[in-house]
Amino acid sequence: MIRTVLAMAVAAVGVTVAIAQSNPVQQRKALMKTNGEQERIVIDMVQAKRPFDLEDAKKALATFAEAGEKALALFPDGSKDGDTAALPAVWENKADFTARFAKLASDSKAAIGAINDLDSLKVQLTEVRQNCIGCHRTYRKRTS
Ligand code: HEC
Repeated sequence: MIRTVLAMAVAAVGVTVAIAQSNPVQQRKALMKTNGEQERIVIDMVQAKRPFDLEDAKKALATFAEAGEKALALFPDGSKDGDTAALPAVWENKADFTARFAKLASDSKAAIGAINDLDSLKVQLTEVRQNCIGCHRTYRKRTS
């Protein structure tokens, strides 16, 4: 009995993993959504809508750095269609798209080392956000 329950639990986990892997569109949207949430926090700091907090600012940048390293794997061939805002250009210019994620990662890591107060966050965030804005301009459908 215990064995059966265990086997079923293991099988269920396997199915969840398989679904997650077969659904890169959802995964990349979730990852980008987290980027957006973290971006909001640091933008609010820069706009004085929220007090500056060095740890939270670094956490946001670490999220961007991680996204820069992990996101590419979530745009495999065959994930062009469906409920996605990614443009076909992603797969047509894969080398450029790849380089942009690498740059997001390296710029975000450099920014983590470079911030120590609100002024330095302002400078670094402007720099890092060029990566988000630039990539969206070319590779993401406009929502408005
Ligand atoms: C190299 C390209 C690239 C970079 C860099 C990039 N994004 Fe994106 N982003 C995309 C693409 C492509 C989509 C559309 C994904 C989809 O719908 O499948 C997207 C979608 C989003 C979304 C919408 C998610 C949703 O709910 O569907 C947000 C928010 C977002 N990005 C925030 C950011 C932020 C913040 C940064 C910078 C820290 C960033 N992105 C950097 C390519 C990029």
